[in-house]
Amino acid sequence: MVDEIKKEAAALSGRLVEWRRNFHRRPETAFREVETSAVLRAYFEGLGMTVKPMAGTGLRADLQGLPGGRTVALRADMDALPLAEEGDKPCLSENPGACHACGHDGHMAVLMGAAEILARRKGEFRGRVVFLGQPSEELPPGGAAPMIEEGALEGVDSIFGLHFWQPLPTGTIGLIAGPVMAQADNFRITVTGRGGHGSMPQSAADPILAAGQIIVALQSVVSRNVDPLKPAVLSFGTVSGGTVYNIIPNEVKLSGTVRTFDPDIQALMKRRLAEIAEATGQALGVRAFVEYEDGYPPLVNPPDSVEFVRRRVEALWGSGAVVPFRPVMGGEDFALYLKNIPGAFLFFGSGDGMPHPHHHPRFDLDERALAPAAALMASLALSFLAGQP
Ligand code: NI
Repeated sequence: MVDEIKKEAAALSGRLVEWRRNFHRRPETAFREVETSAVLRAYFEGLGMTVKPMAGTGLRADLQGLPGGRTVALRADMDALPLAEEGDKPCLSENPGACHACGHDGHMAVLMGAAEILARRKGEFRGRVVFLGQPSEELPPGGAAPMIEEGALEGVDSIFGLHFWQPLPTGTIGLIAGPVMAQADNFRITVTGRGGHGSMPQSAADPILAAGQIIVALQSVVSRNVDPLKPAVLSFGTVSGGTVYNIIPNEVKLSGTVRTFDPDIQALMKRRLAEIAEATGQALGVRAFVEYEDGYPPLVNPPDSVEFVRRRVEALWGSGAVVPFRPVMGGEDFALYLKNIPGAFLFFGSGDGMPHPHHHPRFDLDERALAPAAALMASLALSFLAGQP
């Protein structure tokens, strides 16, 4: 069966590339995936599936095999990034300010390829395959939560998803049990002082100086408060304030992100962030107001599902295909599916000849990864429904 699936996926290569490039040309950002969703819907309906729209632009397509059996879901995220694409690839974005710079275009093509392979076999397997097109992975609170609320996992026993991954050579697979992706939170700090003339600081309360001190002081949280053996990141992403060189402004706004794997460390970071920012502001005669927003929870792969995926990968490409991999500090709302049902999230290498990282304006995928990724997704679904260990 494995060889047949590989052959069929390889035969789909040209169409997979075409599908991916079509999505790439017409990128749509979080919860605006209207055209994208319509393409998926038409495709799944063309394969004879019932399609249920959910979470705004999301959808669930059900492929019913022989009666009885279990249900397995495959998920692809659909959103592009709010980013102007650069470069000269043959399928440049035609939507100004939007770009598939994370590879979600490839994830959708793979989902379509797997659907094609599985639909041909619906008279051969018992059970049901559910294809999930999920909006807004990039923008918390994300699309997974409303998808789940609206029934994406109803009757589903297990779920699988992948992310194309530039740091891995094409065709290799990063797969680990336990925490794989981080709790990804964000925060904003509003530093309010009293504006004045730059030449007369004695009559002002300077929020720029205080913001600078807060930024520096918060770097002590990871280095001084967090257990050195536990991963944690605190980074600032924006600093804004002021209008001209000789005015002390009233206000400076800061924002940033906190990444952790352990709920206790997350709570500690949250608490120290507020304490240090507020006390530093107070010491300098300004007010620092902290808003903290919990993002996606850590993505945790259960060991049984990881072993199941590993066996499928090895059946397809031998034991060398799964390469050493370490957890990623990025966030991913696939985590929410795995809080409800078992399953696994894996990283599929697509980095050969691709110099630019994810979220770069010149990001591109090695399209030779599309067919094997579709073969793997189809094989995961079939093996799960066949009850293979
Ligand atoms: Ni992504």
